[in-house]
Amino acid sequence: MINKEKGMKKFGMTGTCLAMALAVGLGACSSKAATATSDDAATADAATDTDATAGTDTTAGTDALATDMSGDVTSAAKLASIARGKYLIDAVFACGVCHTPKGADGKPDMTKYLAGSTSYAFPMPDGTTNIVNAENITPHAEQGIGTWTDVQIANGIRKGVDDQDVAFWPIMPYPEYALLNDLDVQAMVDYLRTIPAVDNVVPSDTVEPPPGVLAAASAKDSDIPHTTLASTDPLFAAAERGRYLATGACIQCHTPEVSPGIANFKMAYAGGRQHKATADAKIATSTNITPDATGLAGWTIADIVASIKGNTDKAKNPLCDASPMGHGWMGDMTDGDMTDIATYIHTLPPIKNGPFTCYTK
Ligand code: HEC
Ligand code: HEC
Repeated sequence: MINKEKGMKKFGMTGTCLAMALAVGLGACSSKAATATSDDAATADAATDTDATAGTDTTAGTDALATDMSGDVTSAAKLASIARGKYLIDAVFACGVCHTPKGADGKPDMTKYLAGSTSYAFPMPDGTTNIVNAENITPHAEQGIGTWTDVQIANGIRKGVDDQDVAFWPIMPYPEYALLNDLDVQAMVDYLRTIPAVDNVVPSDTVEPPPGVLAAASAKDSDIPHTTLASTDPLFAAAERGRYLATGACIQCHTPEVSPGIANFKMAYAGGRQHKATADAKIATSTNITPDATGLAGWTIADIVASIKGNTDKAKNPLCDASPMGHGWMGDMTDGDMTDIATYIHTLPPIKNGPFTCYTK
């Protein structure tokens, strides 16, 4: 978004909406029009709920949050949802890689947990570098998302729009998060409500996402490759569970782009995606993790699990600092989830691409 120094009047709303209306053929920009895509037009009403009553509204479609229990913070179900959300945010999807700033020691500054920003710099097609700031997603009322409803937060995660319908850059992996299920998104919302509110101002972005970005962005389930295992294979179920997790956790960084933040899913997991963690960082390139000779051919499922756990390569050498595995991030997943992901990665359709080196300069 353009103006994320909260408390200031947001700039860009009219321009963005107008441009998107032209690009995606929508007539107006009132309420949720700019966010409506063909598959969720029927949900526009649910999206305007002032509180997350969508869970009781069976017509709410993709905006329905399955476990809404507004005001309920003590039931066993709510506590389980919060715990699930913490696990997804801290370990599986490692939201803090982008949303928690790093201290001088290079480790996440936990006094600013999820309070933004790691500036995220990426090359534009015209050769310039765009810097997008990952927002403060703590419950702080002015600087964070404390005043957002559950549905608004869910829409931020899965649809890439803020509480005023301004579109985000798909550097925020909402195109892939679009495929997360309602329970998991509700869990993340529930957890985000429980973390300390941090008064941290995140600088404004300077470049607006291109018109029509939302229409281009959302991944479809059919975009994501399946395991090559037969459905009768004893490992099939594990691989498909891994597919769900890897869609949120791994695919974005390991897939080349058609435009900034938008993956070329025909090359899913074939690596070569470039990004800089900050404007002055070196350009990091992800590796091909399909089982091709240019990727992970020769790795076992156990090798991949060890890599996730330790943030190491097959020979146990540390990976570059742009890789978010290991203890503190994705290496804190359960052994079961790491094995499911590794089973999936190990049985992907092989794609020839690369090999790549993380830092070439
Ligand atoms: C690759 C980096 C990255 C990751 C990983 C990431 N985000 Fe983001 N997120 C961003 C950026 C960048 C923005 C701002 C985009 C913009 O301003 O156009 C953002 C914006 C948001 C917003 C909107 C906040 C606001 O005030 O507008 C929410 C909510 C959010 N992210 C939640 C999450 C959650 C939850 C996760 C993990 C499941 C996550 N993000 C993972 C980069 C990331
Ligand atoms: C923030 C971007 C990012 C995300 C998210 C990410 N990776 Fe990576 N990954 C990288 C980069 C960059 C490298 C290259 C590291 C190097 O070469 O030192 C890498 C390297 C790897 C390697 C080592 C490959 C080799 O040839 O040595 C494996 C295995 C891997 N990633 C698997 C995964 C899995 C599985 C996930 C999801 C659980 C994941 N990655 C999520 C950026 C990412």
